[in-house]
Amino acid sequence: MLQESSPYLALARKYRPSNFEDVVGQEHVIAALQHSIDNNRIHHAYLLTGTRGIGKTTIARIIAKCLECEGGISSHPHLDGNLCSTCKAISEGTFPDVIEIDGASQTKVDDTRQLLENTQYPPMQGRYKVYIIDEVHMLSQSSFNALLKTLEEPPAYVKFILATTDPQKIPTTVLSRCLQFQLKALSIDEIASQIEKISHKEGFTCESEAAILIARAARGSMRDALSLCDQALALGNGKILRDTVLSMLGTASDELVSDILSLLLVNSNKSLEEVLLKIRQISPNYKTLLNDLVITFHDLALYQMMGNARSLNVFSIPSTTLDKYAKLLSPKALQLYYQIALQGLEEYKVSNDGATTFEMAILRLLAFTPEKKKIG
Ligand SMILES: Nc1ncnc2c1ncn2[C@@H]1O[C@H](COP(=O)(O)OP(=O)(O)O)[C@@H](O)[C@H]1O
Ligand SMILES: [Mg+2]
Ligand SMILES: [Zn+2]
Repeated sequence: MLQESSPYLALARKYRPSNFEDVVGQEHVIAALQHSIDNNRIHHAYLLTGTRGIGKTTIARIIAKCLECEGGISSHPHLDGNLCSTCKAISEGTFPDVIEIDGASQTKVDDTRQLLENTQYPPMQGRYKVYIIDEVHMLSQSSFNALLKTLEEPPAYVKFILATTDPQKIPTTVLSRCLQFQLKALSIDEIASQIEKISHKEGFTCESEAAILIARAARGSMRDALSLCDQALALGNGKILRDTVLSMLGTASDELVSDILSLLLVNSNKSLEEVLLKIRQISPNYKTLLNDLVITFHDLALYQMMGNARSLNVFSIPSTTLDKYAKLLSPKALQLYYQIALQGLEEYKVSNDGATTFEMAILRLLAFTPEKKKIG
């Protein structure tokens, strides 16, 4: 398999952007950072917040290169591709004056504290001593105190780039000393097109439907999306195919959801028996499928009210499904369906049979279907 035949580098690692230009999304943050770097208004502490896999560590390392590059402080460190040895070492994590600390790793508490106490020594090779601290809210108390002490009176050569998924857990004493940037979860489009771009560079086949399925499953995280790509490539013998991805995700295919939607219509061409049989044969994760239905009802209701407001980036179901069923189901019915499906999810707390709970929810949807009642 792939991993065995070559020193296979995970896509998420291989495609870590090494300059601002290659970062997907996060335009607002990058513009502000570039502006401050190019005007030499460099803050002593930046705080990057946002969910997992959206570019916090990536951007932190790029900032470090901007500050340390042998070509001078610039928001375009060696964009021409001729990396200086400093930029290269920073990418590889071997530059002595860029110190990465993972607050979440429970080991070596003393080492971490020690590192933070070393801020008193000036940089060895670089212009600055740059501390990149990931999941900063999880630092031990003693490490935290060391950090706070330096933040209060930072030597001119020390720069902090802090990152966290959970800014609420950071005390205001720290927050007030940082310039904070909120990174955003990436959109389905942004993730899917990055997957396609990487597939071109790597020269593997990637069906565009598969890229979209992965992008949706990744829920905003580029790292999760690229890991899913690795899995799909391994399962699909070097190709990312719709069918592999569907079975890999183990979730309801869009097809099952639209089969169920179709059941709820007066002139349905699907029978209950047919649909339930199909679902049983696939034997999906029932709770996930029910949750997909909840999301679908939400998306359809929203779509009915505002059309395709792409700027909101909210729709996780295919646009063909949106178009078709938003016209066929009434807003009132969708409200009811949403409630019923959500109630079904609640029942998973007390039921341990995934299929039964799911089927009861489907039967309840049908029992309360106003469209069906019309024809008696
Ligand atoms: N905004 C982005 N643009 C392009 N790739 C990204 C982006 N965010 C994350 N990635 C991909 O995910 C990997 C992990 O990203 P990272 O910056 O470590 O995420 P985190 O926000 O968890 O620190 C990167 O190596 C890269 O492949
Ligand atoms: Mg990170
Ligand atoms: Zn450089």
